[in-house]
Amino acid sequence: MSNNLLKGKKGIIFGALNSNSIAWKVAERAYEEGAEFILTNAPIALRMGELNELAKKTNSDVVPADVTSIEDLENLFNKAQEKFGKIDFILHSIGMSINVRKKIHYTEANYDFYDKAMDISAISFHKVMKIAKEKDIMNEWGSILALSFIAAQLSIPGYNDMSDAKSLLESIARTFGYYYGVDKKVRVNTISQSPTKTTAGGGIKGFDSLYNFADYNSPLGNAPTLDCANYCIVMFSDLTKYVTMQNLYHDGGFSSTGVSDRTMEKFEKGFY
Ligand SMILES: NC(=O)c1ccc[n+]([C@@H]2O[C@H](COP(=O)([O-])OP(=O)(O)OC[C@H]3O[C@@H](n4cnc5c(N)ncnc54)[C@H](O)[C@@H]3O)[C@@H](O)[C@H]2O)c1
Repeated sequence: MSNNLLKGKKGIIFGALNSNSIAWKVAERAYEEGAEFILTNAPIALRMGELNELAKKTNSDVVPADVTSIEDLENLFNKAQEKFGKIDFILHSIGMSINVRKKIHYTEANYDFYDKAMDISAISFHKVMKIAKEKDIMNEWGSILALSFIAAQLSIPGYNDMSDAKSLLESIARTFGYYYGVDKKVRVNTISQSPTKTTAGGGIKGFDSLYNFADYNSPLGNAPTLDCANYCIVMFSDLTKYVTMQNLYHDGGFSSTGVSDRTMEKFEKGFY
């Protein structure tokens, strides 16, 4: 399916690790919609080799960059500038917490790991935009997106320090979005996606229960990865030019539902 929504547009896509990744689907859909882009991921992730398959399929270059490294980001944006001149969209689809990986309880956080989670999962969004802005690489009305999760607003046991990272990420989108809008007419948003079966998602303690609960409690059920990618495409397109500084829920209504009828029914007879 193509509506040429991104025809002529150029961009950078961070965070495609394998075919389950949200960024992978965004890349496939962006290509179908006529975009050209550079794919990037951390050097260690590239060693797994799967990204080359996506690059071939979407006719794109791969440039390694650890998103926490200013030097790597400078190099990435220089390459993008050489190839495209200006660009129209950036996807930040990155999250990582060592406290989550090592199953360290939120209240017992290791602060070196905590700092790393903030840097990789949130502050990196600021770094990406700082360098993009310094290099003046974005076209007017360009669109920058990062992926977030409802744990930025609601406490979700098991999401750990990633909850704090997502709150910071959303704040950076609003605050940087203000300046980028005023100075360059560039828009910045986050999309808050349903639990999704990916490598990062699977690392969350109790992920399967969380996935099932969200699916059960959402009027429309959990939003699939492909639909998340479609939302990203619309946000990169000219159909959403005046949307900026927003956290946009893409979650089947989960974020606005206190409790659903069918969840209530479970408790009628003392389910617990
Ligand atoms: N899976 C879910 O349930 C879910 C729900 C809502 C939001 N999200 C968000 O979606 C985004 C994408 O995650 P995903 O679920 O597709 O999982 P994923 O594991 O496929 O993607 C995470 C990516 O982050 C990259 N990354 C980690 N450290 C990096 C670094 N230092 N430099 C550059 N890249 C680095 C990984 O290599 C990987 O490609 C994340 O921000 C995640 O928090 C996921």
